[in-house]
Amino acid sequence: MTPIPFFDLTRQFASMENEILEAILPLFKSQQFILGPAVSDFESQFAKTFGAGNAVGVSSGTDALILSLIVSGLLKGQGVVVPSFTFFASASSISLAGGVPVFIDVDPLSFLLTPEILDRFLREETRPGPDGRPVTRRGHRTVSGVMAVHLYGQMMDMEGLYGVAKSHGLWIIEDACQSVGARHSGHSPGAFSNAAAYSFFPTKNLGGAGDGGMITTENSELADHLRRLRVHGSRKRYEHEELGTNARLDALQAKILSVKLDHLFAWTERRRQIADRYNESFQSLPGVQCPKAHKESFHVYHQYTLKVEGKGRRDELRDILSERGIGSEVYYPIPLHRQKAFSAYIPETIPLPASESLSEKVLSLPVFPELSDDEQTRVVEAVCTFLGR
Ligand SMILES: Cc1ncc(COP(=O)(O)O)c(C=O)c1O
Repeated sequence: MTPIPFFDLTRQFASMENEILEAILPLFKSQQFILGPAVSDFESQFAKTFGAGNAVGVSSGTDALILSLIVSGLLKGQGVVVPSFTFFASASSISLAGGVPVFIDVDPLSFLLTPEILDRFLREETRPGPDGRPVTRRGHRTVSGVMAVHLYGQMMDMEGLYGVAKSHGLWIIEDACQSVGARHSGHSPGAFSNAAAYSFFPTKNLGGAGDGGMITTENSELADHLRRLRVHGSRKRYEHEELGTNARLDALQAKILSVKLDHLFAWTERRRQIADRYNESFQSLPGVQCPKAHKESFHVYHQYTLKVEGKGRRDELRDILSERGIGSEVYYPIPLHRQKAFSAYIPETIPLPASESLSEKVLSLPVFPELSDDEQTRVVEAVCTFLGR
């Protein structure tokens, strides 16, 4: 039986080999690998495609998050509310920027933070501090911002979140690393926050040939600041106004990503088509929940993730798929408040039952655009045989 991979990047490359090689050849001829027109052209293309005021190319999604937090004015020791059920970098970026992650639970149906969960948290777990901003009851820590995570390709309700955050004096950064092209109520990430951070890690919906990232923001001053920070805090060569780092997007990546961006809409449509077929096939099965897309949400299905009820059932399903040569993944098996790296903050953490339970129940199935109909049929049959019995 031919294996069905969880994703297969070689298929995508095979479909566009010439386009990519033609795009990068002039760069090798010019040897202009650092910034220059390749990066600025891709930034303009990205901003135009998603209706953003500014786009700043950086070296990874993690750097995009760290720099966005720094330009938001995060001070040492200040708290940033972040969901526990997400990839590590959503929270490690807060620590690396000098802040402290304040973990919050997610909605068990959408896997996302919601305005209601944030509102309840701020009312029940914080009190107003001297400057009006919330102070946590457990850790006595001033909270200055919120990290909104658009997990698996679905945006959270940013307008609602903005209303809650603003009334408590909090700014928002969006972790859109898994959600390029996603929208909520017609808005792309970045419309209701200081900045949105994207990742071009190779397996992302828009993936480079290595690491890369992008920050979009409607605030031109923040964009200028980000452009300085990514080149050692410098606007003019060898004049450093502040401490910055080396966090530039490679020109080579920009060229490749620019070619790929033209295909993103078609790839996204194919992901959505695959997700629709999974939904139709699984929705009446007992003991499983299909991904819940909000009615206002344009979900780009970076992951197609089932929630499998019953102790140990998720792992049993994963084993059955593996026996049939079908790849699957668990994103994420350990909620962040249980990670050793954050153990110093655990005394401040309230119980997070949805995050704990999801880490035992979620299973992501192959949803990459080049998955064939026949391959999907085999995945569907395997899941239905196991869950339908
Ligand atoms: C939700 C989320 N945040 C942040 C990141 C970090 O992005 P990168 O790997 O480009 O640093 C990722 C990528 O894996 C992610 O999925």
